Amino acid sequence: MYIGTSKLTHTYWPGTPFAADALKNISFSVGQGTFTLLIGPSGSGKTTLIQHLNGLLKPSAGEVYFDGKKIGPDKAALLALRRRVGLVFQMPEDQFFSETVFDEIAYAPRNLGLDEKKVEERVNRAVAQVGLERSRLLDRHPFQLSAGQKRRVAIASVLSLEPEVLILDEPAAGLDPEGKGNLLNLLSSLNRAGKITIMVSTHHLDEIAALADNLVVLNEGGLVMSGKTKEILARGAELKELGLALPQVTGIMHELAARGLPVSTDIYSLSAACDEILQAKRADQR
Ligand SMILES: Nc1ncnc2c1ncn2[C@@H]1O[C@H](COP(=O)(O)OP(=O)(O)OP(=O)(O)O)[C@@H](O)[C@H]1O
Ligand SMILES: [Mg+2]
Repeated sequence: MYIGTSKLTHTYWPGTPFAADALKNISFSVGQGTFTLLIGPSGSGKTTLIQHLNGLLKPSAGEVYFDGKKIGPDKAALLALRRRVGLVFQMPEDQFFSETVFDEIAYAPRNLGLDEKKVEERVNRAVAQVGLERSRLLDRHPFQLSAGQKRRVAIASVLSLEPEVLILDEPAAGLDPEGKGNLLNLLSSLNRAGKITIMVSTHHLDEIAALADNLVVLNEGGLVMSGKTKEILARGAELKELGLALPQVTGIMHELAARGLPVSTDIYSLSAACDEILQAKRADQR
C-alpha cells in the first residue's frame, strides 16, 4: 500500500462528554503517482483524514500506511515521513511567519540543515515549479501578494522539501476563476511532469474532477464511496443525496443527452465537452 488507511477511527476529546468520532472505520488506498480527490461536505472529516496521512494526528483505532509501512509514534520516523509527504494546509497563507517570500520558502530546507547555496537552489526550483520565477516577488513581504500568489508561495514552501507526495486541503478556496484555473494547471503539471502523487480535498466537484484518477467520498466521518473517478461520477444520484453536485459541465452533458443530442455523459472538463458536442454536431450534418 503506497498511501492508505485500515479501519482508521479518530475520536476528538476521547473520554470526555465532548467525545465525537470524526472518522469511523476508514479503509482506502491509493497508488504512487496518482491524483486523488477527497470529497465530502463541510464537517465530513477531510481535514482530520489529511492530518493522519502526514502523521499529525494519532489514530484512536486502526492504522495509517505510507510506502508499505505503518505510520507510528517514533519521532525520527515522523520527521522522515513529513519530508516525503508534504501538506499544504487549509488557507495556508494564514500561517506565513517570515519577513520575505524567500525566507518563507527557505524555511523548510534550512530546517533540514542544508547549506545556504543548497537552500537557494531548492527555493529557485520550487519557485520555478509554481511559476513565480520571473515575478521578482522573493524580497517582498508574503502579505503583500495577491491571493493566488500567496497560494503559490504556500505550495512552493512545501515543494522546497522535494516531497514525493503533496496533499492539499481545499487549495482553491477563496481564489477567483483565473487563480483557480492556474492552480489546477499547476497541480496537473506537478502530477504528470513532476511525478508527484497528489491528494486534494474539496467540498464540491468541479473542473478539478477532470484531473483526478480516484475519488474518495466522505460523509459524517464515514467512507461512503471510493474508486475510479468515472465509476464514482456515474453514481450522480447518490452524490446528489450527499449534497455533492456533479461538475457543472457534466450536468450540462446530462441535460443535452436528455434533450436528444447524442453525447456521452461521462465528461468532466470543458475541453472534453466541447469536443463531444462538436463531434455530435458533425455526425448530425453527415
Ligand atoms: N480540534 C477539534 N476538536 C474537536 N472536534 C473537531 C476538531 N477538529 C474537527 N472537529 C470535528 O470533527 C469533524 C470533522 O471535521 P473536519 O475539520 O475534519 O471536517 P472537514 O471535512 O475538513 O470540513 P470543512 O470542509 O469544513 O473543512 C467535525 O464534526 C468537526 O466539528
Ligand atoms: Mg477541512
